[in-house]
Amino acid sequence: MKEVKELLIEAKDEISSANDMASLNNIRIKYLGKKGLVTLEMKKLKKLPQEEKPKFGAVINKVRNEIEKLLNEKMEEIRKNEKIKKFEKIRVDVTLPGAKRDKGHLHILTKVQRELEDIFISMGFEVVEGPEVEDTWHNFDALNTPEWHPARDAQDSFYFDEKTLLRTHTSPIQIRTMLEKKPPLAIISPGRVFRRDYDSTHLPMFTQMEGLYVDKNVTVRHLKYTLEEMARRVFGESAKVRLKPSFFPFTEPSYEVDVWFQGNWLEILGAGMVDPNVFRNVGYDPETWSGFAFGLGLERIAMVKYGIKDIRDFIRNDVRFLENY
Ligand code: PHE
Repeated sequence: MKEVKELLIEAKDEISSANDMASLNNIRIKYLGKKGLVTLEMKKLKKLPQEEKPKFGAVINKVRNEIEKLLNEKMEEIRKNEKIKKFEKIRVDVTLPGAKRDKGHLHILTKVQRELEDIFISMGFEVVEGPEVEDTWHNFDALNTPEWHPARDAQDSFYFDEKTLLRTHTSPIQIRTMLEKKPPLAIISPGRVFRRDYDSTHLPMFTQMEGLYVDKNVTVRHLKYTLEEMARRVFGESAKVRLKPSFFPFTEPSYEVDVWFQGNWLEILGAGMVDPNVFRNVGYDPETWSGFAFGLGLERIAMVKYGIKDIRDFIRNDVRFLENY
């Protein structure tokens, strides 16, 4: 009897120090298996005298059940721990910050373009677009640009054939708009233009924004105010605008326009009052209608505002440049 109780103590010890299923199984075999220690004791039961059988039997049964119970409890515990270990391995800390991905952003020119669009829209201008492949009539003739003008020369422009070329400026949009709409009107038109030029201040492809305002009694003051307002909004309150006499075939008078910014006068656009011949070419009566037009160089504006020295940087796609703006 004493021995049987000792078996229980031994088994208890072994079970509590087992930490995997395999050793637990060995313990089960050792005590409860066919030739297990407890099983052997049970076999002894037969040889005992009749009167001792019940007492001994009860003890041995109790021991057997106890071991069985301990084994099962331990099995549960081990299973649970294995599960926890498994989850621990694949555990994800959802509170950790995620892997950062570089986010792209708009190109500096697109930003400048949108900024200018917003400024002119707020003054009542409408944004329109036109084709990059133009015919010579819209690009030159309708704009009162004579045969002898250097822009018409193949040395200065990209021609597909005698009558088709990549537009050299956004001014043909003036023509397209006036042919389509009745005055009064106020439009701007951003877009790419093309010329045979390439150095640190000229690209064969660059970006302009055309402006056209047609109404009754439009004067140079309207033009100057509009450009001053644009300059103040782009370059700050202290920006000033200066008109210098110039020549364009489609405006009369014509101006080169400088902006005063950080101590320098910088030339950023051409402008003028719409030439009566242009009005005639689109069927507007020049006695009734008057207007101003301007053509801004968007790269120029970005260069002045952000201190960019080489216009070629806009199209080099050097990430160090792009990331800067
Ligand atoms: N189209 C002219 C250029 O590209 C600029 C301009 C536009 C001048 C409108 C006057 C009026 O140089």
